[in-house]
Amino acid sequence: MFDRGAGGRGLIIMRNFGAICTALMLGAGALAFGLTLHAAPAQIDPHSVMSDPAQARSDYIEHCGGCHGIRGDTVPAHLPELEGRVGWFMCTPEARAYLIRLPNVAHSRITDNAELADMMNYVVFVLGEGSAPVGTRPFTADEVAHERVHALTNMNLTAERLRLANQLVHQCHAPESIRQLYPGEKQ
Ligand code: HEC
Repeated sequence: MFDRGAGGRGLIIMRNFGAICTALMLGAGALAFGLTLHAAPAQIDPHSVMSDPAQARSDYIEHCGGCHGIRGDTVPAHLPELEGRVGWFMCTPEARAYLIRLPNVAHSRITDNAELADMMNYVVFVLGEGSAPVGTRPFTADEVAHERVHALTNMNLTAERLRLANQLVHQCHAPESIRQLYPGEKQ
């Protein structure tokens, strides 16, 4: 109904105003088509994924920043660099779970799961900005509650990380350097 009505109006306009109107309509159509082509899904706004961004940031600094650096820029310590790359781990369900099952995260003194979810969203979307695949869902309190009871042990961490990093390279086209704790690490 609506389409036919709009088309009918278009025809009347063309008859009334002739070639100039036709040209205008074609131009508008081309513009709309161009806009559609360029409307790729946008990266999530990092500040929309936390209910309390200031709390999430100070939790990170207090509980994690001593080892991982205030901005997630760990190097040159022999620790995984988070800045601009930790978001790759959001790309498969297992690698996503790994982020919550890490001993320091799962056993964090932050017992409130919503607060821990917020802090991990800070880690992934602010420190790791640009590295989470487009369309990545933020962590929720329920997800954190579910995963943190399956904490990894220090025994199997290195092997598990390498297995997941290979997944990210093969399934998500993550850079090969994700296999290393930081780009340029000597194996
Ligand atoms: C005592 C130092 C230390 C603290 C504190 C610490 N981490 Fe870690 N983190 C490490 C080490 C070492 C690794 C490598 C895996 C392992 O041994 O746990 C790691 C691994 C990680 C990884 C995986 C990155 C990758 O590329 O595999 C993430 C994400 C992470 N930590 C986040 C956090 C968060 C969030 C906190 C705060 C709750 C935290 N860490 C606290 C030392 C620390």
